[in-house]
Amino acid sequence: MFQSQLSTKHLLGIKYINRDDIDLICKTAAEFKEIINRPIKKVPSLRDVTIANVFFENSTRTRISFELAERRLSADVINFTASSSSVSKGETLLDTIHNILAMKVDMVVMRHPAPGAHHFLARHIDANIINAGDGTHEHPTQALLDAFSIQEILGSVEGKKVVIVGDILHSRVALSNIYCLNKMGAEVKVCGPPTLIPRYIESLGAKVEPDIRKALAWCDVANVLRIQLERQDIRYIPSLREYSLYYGINRQMLESLNKEVVIMHPGPINRGVELTSDVADSGQAIILDQVENGVAIRMAILYLLAGRVEGS
Ligand code: CP
Repeated sequence: MFQSQLSTKHLLGIKYINRDDIDLICKTAAEFKEIINRPIKKVPSLRDVTIANVFFENSTRTRISFELAERRLSADVINFTASSSSVSKGETLLDTIHNILAMKVDMVVMRHPAPGAHHFLARHIDANIINAGDGTHEHPTQALLDAFSIQEILGSVEGKKVVIVGDILHSRVALSNIYCLNKMGAEVKVCGPPTLIPRYIESLGAKVEPDIRKALAWCDVANVLRIQLERQDIRYIPSLREYSLYYGINRQMLESLNKEVVIMHPGPINRGVELTSDVADSGQAIILDQVENGVAIRMAILYLLAGRVEGS
């Protein structure tokens, strides 16, 4: 029988949810996507639910997408960014969140640079917690919107071949995608400079293909990541120019294949580094569809977590 509610109170990572949870989120997102394409996009589902968006790291897509999802569901929304808060005066994460919760907040959407920050909060507070990215660890809503986007364009994720290209070592998107795609029955490879591929990656269910041309010839979907210079304490690659020469995807490479590979990117794109503009802006790229689907996926997650009945 189809699962009707999530198995978890929080969305801390894809590692902690199951295939039925993922299917339920995608099915619910498809219903919300239909609703948000109507002239009247708002539904009353989360009226009287208050949600805090707490961002300790920069974000464009995720923060705006969550806020839009919350407002489309008629939730009350408060936004908190660390740079303009009392965190800069030395307040702890737990004190900050307790103060926000004292204002009767029901759900916390948080991005934090420390891997595991959300697990820490989940042990100490009662509200639903949604991970909007924790350092180099997980970015579950991105992986879910990526899976939903693959499902939408290719009919299913099961059996599809997906290569994740780029800075795998520092990428929470890569880790969450590997968990999610494996749970949904896809085959996963990673491709990038050896210094940016963790040695344990095969134990997570992703094979390594060091040659970008072979990776593209193998896959149905290439999910292309940004080199995260801001997280690199040492030099993992000689230069962005050299990275682009060996791993950048351009139109000529795609045209040399006898098939059309779906190109994805979580954003922000470094144009001319991981993708040339003629690839990023082509019909083969579904980058803006991913962004559109992000709102529906986040509506689904908020709706399902808010409606979760303990113990049933
Ligand atoms: N994809 C993503 O997480 O983008 P932002 O950093 O802009 O939220």
